[in-house]
Amino acid sequence: TPLDHIRNFSIVAHIDHGKSTLADRLIQTTGGLQAREMTEQVLDSMDIERERGITIKAQTVRLHYVAKNGETYILNLIDTPGHVDFAYEVSRSLAACEGSLLVVDAAQGVEAQTLANVYLALDNGHEIVPVLNKIDLPAAEPDRVKEQIEEVIGLDASDAVMISAKSGIGIEDVLEAVVHRLPPPKEGDRSKPLKAMLVDSWYDAYLGVVVLVRIIDGELRKGQIIRMMGTDAKYPVDRVGVFTPKMLAMDVLGPGELGFITASIKEVADTRVGDTITEDKRPTTTMLPGFKPAQPVVFCGLFPVDAAQFDDLRAAMGKLRLNDASFSFEMESSAALGFGFRCGFLGLLHLEIVQERLSREFDLDLIATAPSVVYDIKLTDGTTIQLHNPSDMPDVMKIAEIQEPWIKATILTPDDYLGNILTLCQERRGIQTDLSYVGKRAMVTYELPLNEVVFDFYDRLKSISKGYASFDYSLIDYREGDLVKLSVLVNAEPVDALSMLVHRNQAERRGRAMCEKLKELIPNHLFKIPIQAAIGGKVIARETISALRKDVTAKCYGGDATRKRKLLDKQKEGKKRMRQFGKVDIPQEAFIAALKMD
Ligand code: GTP
Repeated sequence: TPLDHIRNFSIVAHIDHGKSTLADRLIQTTGGLQAREMTEQVLDSMDIERERGITIKAQTVRLHYVAKNGETYILNLIDTPGHVDFAYEVSRSLAACEGSLLVVDAAQGVEAQTLANVYLALDNGHEIVPVLNKIDLPAAEPDRVKEQIEEVIGLDASDAVMISAKSGIGIEDVLEAVVHRLPPPKEGDRSKPLKAMLVDSWYDAYLGVVVLVRIIDGELRKGQIIRMMGTDAKYPVDRVGVFTPKMLAMDVLGPGELGFITASIKEVADTRVGDTITEDKRPTTTMLPGFKPAQPVVFCGLFPVDAAQFDDLRAAMGKLRLNDASFSFEMESSAALGFGFRCGFLGLLHLEIVQERLSREFDLDLIATAPSVVYDIKLTDGTTIQLHNPSDMPDVMKIAEIQEPWIKATILTPDDYLGNILTLCQERRGIQTDLSYVGKRAMVTYELPLNEVVFDFYDRLKSISKGYASFDYSLIDYREGDLVKLSVLVNAEPVDALSMLVHRNQAERRGRAMCEKLKELIPNHLFKIPIQAAIGGKVIARETISALRKDVTAKCYGGDATRKRKLLDKQKEGKKRMRQFGKVDIPQEAFIAALKMD
């Protein structure tokens, strides 16, 4: 196929604006799948994705479209994830194509991730066609949304394509727009040495590692010995093909084309996204500008509730990692929770997804410790360490400075909730950098410490805005912070799993809340149990659980005691669900509840 008959494009949108529904329609309309083969949202292949309606792993499909001018075009659609945690995956998928459809829900208008994603597309030099979806909804206000797009993003929206992906209105117009308004791939040279970009890779149970490639120059064919220039690894190519969306074997891929290869690569970690693939015996001289690997920014400990499941957990994590090189884990042991793993994630949603997959797909019962960000700690001896786990915090005397990651957050909200949102950001040490209006909605940007966002920021934001605010963030830099390690002591024994790094001004509030919570959760013993929150040796909050007198029955206490009684009964059911701290037994439930707080 000549280059001017190829279009490589992606769809960018805010979550739920209809990207997957549109992609399905495009596949269906161009005959990629028969109607009976269509499951809802073909591109989202994992169950969890389908259930939550989010797309995690970028995938691509090749469509044959006979345009109104009678010519046949090859349209390669690259599916991109829509959530902030996966901005890196969005960006690398975008680098493999020349144009984007910007899908905006005509009833909701521009949202925070609409902006974030369209800016990524513009950064990649994309031509952009605005598409207004859900025009079937009575609440749709296409004219107002067009204005928003022009005002906020600065794109001409007068020719926006009006569609309903759900009822199938305007799909043909979208395909025509792709052909006529998006550019073909830039000129490549088939006779030159092979130069291809590694766009994505994933693990397939039958094929091993599958690599998605975009050919720049030269040809990629079966049997060729390829070399990954970044890692200098060589592999013979076993299979070459495209997705229709089913895998279809091909003899060769040429310049401008997107497709997959398999080459007996063992692990996804061996394939570096953004790497240049060339032919070993006739290599290209210039590498593509390399991509940065995704860095985990949020860490937490994951422990099996039942210690006997440790090996199962290890195996499950290994399996997950085969397909997700941005998820990292290493063994950790905690006095409170036993053996488990310290795990790194791209963000909170990524954490949630991994946790959910572990419990659902692998049937594991897990306890997660409070999420923590990565801190840079400068020591007095001039060295710097990266702290992933508050319990590894060095002695305060050895610390010269602690730096924490900051983000730039963009929030769009109906005006009514703005006041509460500003208060929330202010409480979280936020610095307001901008406030403007997009129609009736306020758009506010804040710089915030990520530390303040990983706890419950997103949940609070959703609840104070009744779900109407949208939020997006990107990391900006590391800044010095007055951070302290808050330790929790039960009967004078520190409980490692509950320690956290907090800003000095927040320490007392959080310490007090934790002590109060634990007082409720830990059952009475035959002796008094002090519960303390401390910074270093200094106690900043304290509660005491009174001693249980042998002849006193539960009914002498208030409602609080019945709850403790129930906890005690539960303990009897399964001794293994208890952890011992010095002389104190703490039920597993207490940890789970305590870690959920705030
Ligand atoms: P992510 O995969 O999370 O990024 O979401 P998405 O943008 O792919 O949205 P998706 O296609 O899952 O659609 C979100 C919801 O909007 C679904 O419930 C769809 O059925 C609905 N929807 C999509 N297109 C239309 C439309 O044209 N009209 C109406 N009324 N609903 C639509």
